[in-house]
Amino acid sequence: AEVMLDEVDVFYVPHLRMKQLVKVCLEQIRKTDFTSNVALQALLRHLHDIFFEVKCHEDIEDNIILEKLQERMKSHCVDNTTVCDCHSNIHVGQMIALIDDGIAVTSRSSEDCMTFGIRLQEALNEFTSAFLPHMKQEEEVFQPLLLKHFEYSELQSIRQLVIVKHCLL
Ligand code: FEO
Repeated sequence: AEVMLDEVDVFYVPHLRMKQLVKVCLEQIRKTDFTSNVALQALLRHLHDIFFEVKCHEDIEDNIILEKLQERMKSHCVDNTTVCDCHSNIHVGQMIALIDDGIAVTSRSSEDCMTFGIRLQEALNEFTSAFLPHMKQEEEVFQPLLLKHFEYSELQSIRQLVIVKHCLL
């Protein structure tokens, strides 16, 4: 029965990708020479693509998993407040806005690049320290709730759809 749980784990595969993206992000930041405007712009374009993917991940979860889970728990008369708005404290939108602001100013002095670089690193640290525990919560709290409130075959379909949507990105 243990092995079969893989077939209904809706978070495992997408989260492998998200964890890989977080790692790439941190590596890129570490390698960037923040005194160089060219290097900063290259980093920002890369981060833009990464955060677009993270945003899509959230939307897919909201639309395909979390809304359904909330509705199901409500219909089973179970308190569903932990599932509501669980993406609101991750601030992906703010990260994207900061990245896009960075991209919009194409010529920066060395000093301005460094200042922006510090802001970017702080924002990214804050994002990572919210996003990693958030994924853990989905895996360790929401996945068991899904198993409790959905049929096995329903979860198989949800998982399949979640994976297909991620692959289309
Ligand atoms: Fe899977 Fe909500 O991040």
